[in-house]
Amino acid sequence: MEIEISSCEHLMYVSEIQQEMYDSAQRRGTGIAKRSIEYLSKKISEGNAVVATENGEWVGFCYIETWSHGKFVANSGLIVSPKFRNGGVATQIKQRVFQLSRDKYPEAKVFGLTTGLAVMKINSDLGYKPVIYSELTQDEEFWNGCKNCVNYEILMMKERKNCLCTAMLFVPENDKKKEGVNNQPDNKYDETNQSDFEYSVQKSLDEFHLTTKKNKKSPDEKESHLSV
Ligand SMILES: CC(C)(COP(=O)(O)OP(=O)(O)OC[C@H]1O[C@@H](n2cnc3c(N)ncnc32)[C@H](O)[C@@H]1OP(=O)(O)O)[C@@H](O)C(=O)NCCC(=O)NCCS
Repeated sequence: MEIEISSCEHLMYVSEIQQEMYDSAQRRGTGIAKRSIEYLSKKISEGNAVVATENGEWVGFCYIETWSHGKFVANSGLIVSPKFRNGGVATQIKQRVFQLSRDKYPEAKVFGLTTGLAVMKINSDLGYKPVIYSELTQDEEFWNGCKNCVNYEILMMKERKNCLCTAMLFVPENDKKKEGVNNQPDNKYDETNQSDFEYSVQKSLDEFHLTTKKNKKSPDEKESHLSV
């Protein structure tokens, strides 16, 4: 299977992609807008999508959208041809489109709205976290896209604060912070930075604290034993 950044060569699959998006939405009972051929073709020819194929057959698709003048990016329209599902295709496509989004818009927050467990799992593995809607783009055009959803009334009733979709967000700064933490040496007794004396004192202190903590129960711990 090939997973590529889209180009004009992939325009031949656009009708099939559009039809499958529509059919799948019907089967799931969601009223997501039917993306026009023109819109999808533009995404494909501008290299703002990822297409999976096998021996010339279309397998899967996902595209990039930007909102709030590029401050937010969404990876939308994820779709896998039914006969290729449950084999990890969506996971690979999302990894590729996420990387493409990060390369093109390194400062942008990447987000998604979904009711699908598969997408939640994939997003979570990529480092997205569930958030409330006010953390997402407030770009009117984005929210207008919900107008064709069967749950639009609920969204409006909730004053656009929440709805049936789970909002998930990847924040680049958080990832950098995480990388910073991970770059710290795992072993805090790193002998290259500490003399033998400092190392043994620090270790003894930690062992002491550990022993006293073990022997001394906090009031909360007692409480919890009582309640068991
Ligand atoms: C949702 C969809 C893209 C998943 O594609 P896929 O290639 O089958 O997904 P993967 O095989 O990569 O599965 C990813 C994970 O989701 C799980 N998963 C897949 N389909 C699932 C489903 N219907 N329900 C619950 N979990 C599912 C997989 O077990 C896997 O989990 P794991 O990593 O813990 O093993 C595909 O079913 C599809 O095109 N559906 C119709 C369109 C759609 O719903 N798009 C999403 C719009 S938000």
